[in-house]
Amino acid sequence: MITSDILRAKYLKFFKTKNHAVIEGKSLIPDNDPTVLFTTAGMHPLVPYLLGEPHPAGKRLVDYQKCIRTGDIDSVGDNSHLTCFEMLGNWSLGDYFKKESIAWSWEFLTDPEWLALDPRLLSVTVFAGDENAPRDEESASVWRSLGMPEDRIAWLGADDNWWAAGPTGPCGPDTEIFYWVGDGLPPPGSNKGTDPEHWMEIWNNVFMEYNRIDAQTLKKLPAQNVDTGMGLERTITVLQGKKSVYETEIFQDIIRAIGEAAHYTYGTDAGKDMSVRIIADHTRASVFILGDQKGVLPGNVGAAYVLRRLIRRSVRHGRKLGITKPFLAPIAEVVINRFEHAYNELAQNRAKILEELPREEERFLETLQKGEAEFEKLLPNLLKNPQKVMSGRLAFRLYDTFGFPIEITEELAREHGLTVNKEEFDEAFKKHQELSRANSANVFKGGLADHSEMTTKYHTATHLLHKALRIVLGEHVAQKGSNITAERLRFDFSHPAPMTPEEIKRVEEIVNEQIARDLPVTMEMMPLEEAKKAGAIALFGEKYDPVVKVYTIGDFSKEVCGGPHVERTGVLGHFVIQKEQSSSAGVRRIRAVLEPHN
Ligand code: ALA
Repeated sequence: MITSDILRAKYLKFFKTKNHAVIEGKSLIPDNDPTVLFTTAGMHPLVPYLLGEPHPAGKRLVDYQKCIRTGDIDSVGDNSHLTCFEMLGNWSLGDYFKKESIAWSWEFLTDPEWLALDPRLLSVTVFAGDENAPRDEESASVWRSLGMPEDRIAWLGADDNWWAAGPTGPCGPDTEIFYWVGDGLPPPGSNKGTDPEHWMEIWNNVFMEYNRIDAQTLKKLPAQNVDTGMGLERTITVLQGKKSVYETEIFQDIIRAIGEAAHYTYGTDAGKDMSVRIIADHTRASVFILGDQKGVLPGNVGAAYVLRRLIRRSVRHGRKLGITKPFLAPIAEVVINRFEHAYNELAQNRAKILEELPREEERFLETLQKGEAEFEKLLPNLLKNPQKVMSGRLAFRLYDTFGFPIEITEELAREHGLTVNKEEFDEAFKKHQELSRANSANVFKGGLADHSEMTTKYHTATHLLHKALRIVLGEHVAQKGSNITAERLRFDFSHPAPMTPEEIKRVEEIVNEQIARDLPVTMEMMPLEEAKKAGAIALFGEKYDPVVKVYTIGDFSKEVCGGPHVERTGVLGHFVIQKEQSSSAGVRRIRAVLEPHN
């Protein structure tokens, strides 16, 4: 049986025979990019190189990369979705393009020496073309030349066959490879376009020759790049002849350990199996996040909050299996043992993982106990309600005050013949979420330590600086990080070269001109799409609320931002850039101060 270890090794070896340099996968926490919480694809750490920076290892690269994607968290537990997965990837940085990329994927998948998959069980999609880029005839003809039948090639639009990591950055048309997951052989005419349920994507080859600057502007990159990503768990699923990623050897030890904790035999109850799968995925994700090189602890914002949610969700599903005591540590240990040889950081951080995971689990169990006690107190009154309905406001109070999850309130209510007014709860919850998201958006975007007068001034100065940089250096300048204290601002942005003294001087002048104009700073709330149409700068990859705040500084700048800002630029003082230096490949860092007006 081919295991995930063998697959990883074969992939690297195959691309080594095609002259690729093996590079190390990176941390789950992206460098210099406060706008995304996690590394979501193998290409993520390679963005500067896809944009044109030379890579020290050369133009042909191959690696395996741990990834976290929470966008599909509600699908986790089905046959193919995971929040934590491994991506096998190979890249051409302006070297080979479609012909070699597709031919090598085909060779690796079907050649008896490599994966030996049955070609009859494979189909592909190619880009049908739109206003951004033409129909991808070249990829289709490469597929045909390799023997792919016409009816296994689906032509699909940008929703399926245009890949980008975020709203801006490197992107392009792709061709995706699918494996048949129906019974027997696929019937004639079946492909991803005609029969989407029966084809599972296993590999995506993206032809990144474009750079999205903003919603309106797509530019050609300096080079034609290839970015491919093969889902390791999904490919193992087909190689082992399974229907689900959770049935592969990858998850067997983990699922067995969960079954033991719950005294439950996996495979005997569909509802319970779902909980087992969710615990398996979420515990694995939690172990990888806690055990990362740049490890994160559970908390209330950003990546830390995602980790907290993953752990808490595991605990809740444990309860569904009848587990009421801490149970995650032994499962985490199984995860570490299973993956430490491929991810050494898990071994290095073993003690930390095994300490922090149960700590958060116990914290949450305490929350549950407090909430349950509170519910018991409310119960006599609730039972007097003739409709046997618990108000959503009350359920929200349990959530807000005690952190008591609504699902558990509903569970307890059900046990006593009550229902919860979920609509009312949802309404209260939505309001609360909008407030707290706006808050955490501040923390991420502005890096604000506090809202004192000086930091507010620096926040507004940062908008002026951002815009001035785009005027002087070009529209490719995008914010990569921002950190503000009461003493200074620090701003990281994408730009391939050091700034010249003239450029620095010009940026200072422009900012000081806007300060001298004493421009009004105004705020409006609007839907994100409208904000983008109005030309507001929004951050790459950032998850915004549907309705956002847009700060406008006179006729000079417009940015989506949580605030706060000063009312007029005149109060800022004199703007001085103290330092301009490299922050990382393709990213520059400016340190600037505001001095009192003379
Ligand atoms: N970056 C591409 C993906 O994640 C390969 O699908």
